[in-house]
Amino acid sequence: MTDLTAHPGGSWACHPAPINGELEMPGDKSISHRAVLLASLADGLSEIRGFLPGADCVATIAAMRSLGVQIELVQTDHLRVHGVGIDGLQAPGAPLDMGNSGTGMRLLAGVLAGQSFDSILTGDESLSSRPMMRIAAPLRAMGALVETVDGHAPLTITGRQPLQPIRYLSPVASAQVKSAVLLAGLHADGEVIVVEPGVTRDHTERMLSWLGCEIDFSNQRVSMAGGQRLTARDIDVPGDFSAAAFFIVAAAISARGEIVLRNIGVNPTRIGLLDMLTMMGADIALSEPRELGGELVSDIRIRGSELQGIDVPPELVALAIDEFPVFFIAAACASGTTRVSGAKELRHKESDRIAAMADGLTTLGIAARPQDDGIVISGGNLGSGVVRSHGDHRIAMAFAVAATVANGPVRIDDVANVATSFPNFVECSRLVGMRVQRLEPR
Ligand code: S3P
Repeated sequence: MTDLTAHPGGSWACHPAPINGELEMPGDKSISHRAVLLASLADGLSEIRGFLPGADCVATIAAMRSLGVQIELVQTDHLRVHGVGIDGLQAPGAPLDMGNSGTGMRLLAGVLAGQSFDSILTGDESLSSRPMMRIAAPLRAMGALVETVDGHAPLTITGRQPLQPIRYLSPVASAQVKSAVLLAGLHADGEVIVVEPGVTRDHTERMLSWLGCEIDFSNQRVSMAGGQRLTARDIDVPGDFSAAAFFIVAAAISARGEIVLRNIGVNPTRIGLLDMLTMMGADIALSEPRELGGELVSDIRIRGSELQGIDVPPELVALAIDEFPVFFIAAACASGTTRVSGAKELRHKESDRIAAMADGLTTLGIAARPQDDGIVISGGNLGSGVVRSHGDHRIAMAFAVAATVANGPVRIDDVANVATSFPNFVECSRLVGMRVQRLEPR
């Protein structure tokens, strides 16, 4: 097991300096998965640049190769994908192992639902405990056979061709569910409509459109005609906002801190964290907005400031769903109380993120009271201690950020999964003066 220690202050010198500097982030994880899947299904050759070479997205590459797609690794973040068309995949010789990745498994299940062969999707212990009925239900309604083990992976999928059209009223605000239905929709012989209970990230819709698919999306509703073909096209992946979030909070809670993050994806369906921190009094400025591959990209500058606790507006929850672990660190550093509700989905991520963060914050001396669908955090002084990551990359990185303002070192156990989304997190942290160290595997 690999652990991390993170020490207070922003430098190795005796007198802690603020967190400071300029960084670029690795490619967006959500967009990297979609780029591999959709370029594989397109007709022709696509170059993907800025790809995230994290373990989750590498598992998606391996799965698509097992399905007969030729994917060349030009550089770690540059792929050349020889698309086979929506009807060109081949039966895999073995189960497809999606590792730790919910996105990989749920989106690929949508692709496999419309194939003429059977396939099996497996994952690690965490992924095998996450809910899969949410995708099995709509894919079954479209005519595929999707077997689960008590609602969990492994998934055994017997595809059907063509799939049936669907108007799916999703009971859960989940981009993964929406995307699974849309990807299955490429094989449907009629219209596919998904209506969601809240706005979720729209990267699948944007990338389908980038590759020539006619698709309408707005206001929690997306519709497209089934059976459309995709045309290969180069894809530039923006810097990952969810990776940037750790440095956004690190700078926001650092007295005299200032960080500039370049080329970060700021798709409006992803940046709820910026709204939440701004409500708390954070000093954040976006500049140089531009479009990259159908996505909005910007530079983000954050300066340290005094934060006040807030009641998080429920409509921001899905727009910040992956940022809550590190947002809870900001809440722990704010004066007053921060309340989050309507966020039960956090219990179904790589770990139960409400329980994992409440435990770790309590260990560090912060009053953090878990609720069924959220948490109540009273800001205070973070102490030192040993916290458990529960094998969850975002919990591990959130506590590394907490350590920058703690009154002693924080040891974070079992951090190997940081490599699923942010392989060079430690190096980036050190560049802005965070005192993070990898410990030898136990
Ligand atoms: C993702 C969607 C979110 C998010 C996950 C990535 C995606 O999950 O938590 O890390 O790429 O579609 P849900 O859509 O299930 O909320």
